Amino acid sequence: MSFEFKIKNSQFKILKAAAFAACSIPLALLIYNGYTDGLGVNPIETITRSTGKWTLIFLLITLGVTPLRRITGWQWLIKFRRMLGLYAFFCALLHFTTYIWLDQFFDLMEIAKDIPKRPFITVGFASFVLLIPLAVTSTSGMVRRLGKRWQQLHRLIYLIAIGGVIHYLWLVKADTRKPLIYGAILGALLGYRLLAKWRVGEFFARRFALSPAAKEE
Ligand code: HEM
Repeated sequence: MSFEFKIKNSQFKILKAAAFAACSIPLALLIYNGYTDGLGVNPIETITRSTGKWTLIFLLITLGVTPLRRITGWQWLIKFRRMLGLYAFFCALLHFTTYIWLDQFFDLMEIAKDIPKRPFITVGFASFVLLIPLAVTSTSGMVRRLGKRWQQLHRLIYLIAIGGVIHYLWLVKADTRKPLIYGAILGALLGYRLLAKWRVGEFFARRFALSPAAKEE
């Protein structure tokens, strides 16, 4: 299934600029809709929901890089991972800022009461707090300095994404279809890693390009 597709440095730069532009579209649309009164009857809810949704989507895309790289053999995909992870953090920061600014009007006492009171906020907040050390240590210097500990620290992304899905599942009142779809995608991405780790079945490993020697980054 693995088909090698190498790219030159100049092609990579173009691809990276295109990926950067594509990742900026959700935010650009949000700003555009804000300026053109296109955020609907409840703009705060629209911004909160949009930034929350894109946080989760970027988390899942970031988690998709390793399986896709293994399956296709496109090693260069790994170079996009940091950018995607930082987009997830940026969306989470906007999401959290919308909550403390537009939703709670910087009422710190109210926020301190709300976080433990509503379980979906508790889980969302925990996921956001865990994202901070990952963003701070995303630089090449930090990767070098932390060495093996960097990989261990960045495994927190699994917990963060699980927290993001639970947060979504707990906030929806009746129709749980959307959070369950995100949960199923996350389950597949984490399941792939477990198969790779446990080296389940040689056939399965070959079929899905799971190298038994492969280690998690
Ligand atoms: C990694 C962290 C987080 C992720 C992945 C995340 C994800 C989401 C998602 C997917 C939604 C629903 C979007 C939709 O309805 O389409 C949402 C809504 C929401 N989130 Fe988060 N969230 C995170 C952190 C937080 C934090 C830190 C807070 C506040 C402390 C927060 C407060 C909210 C609120 C108030 C809503 C809207 C609830 C409603 O409309 O009833 N989230 N979030």
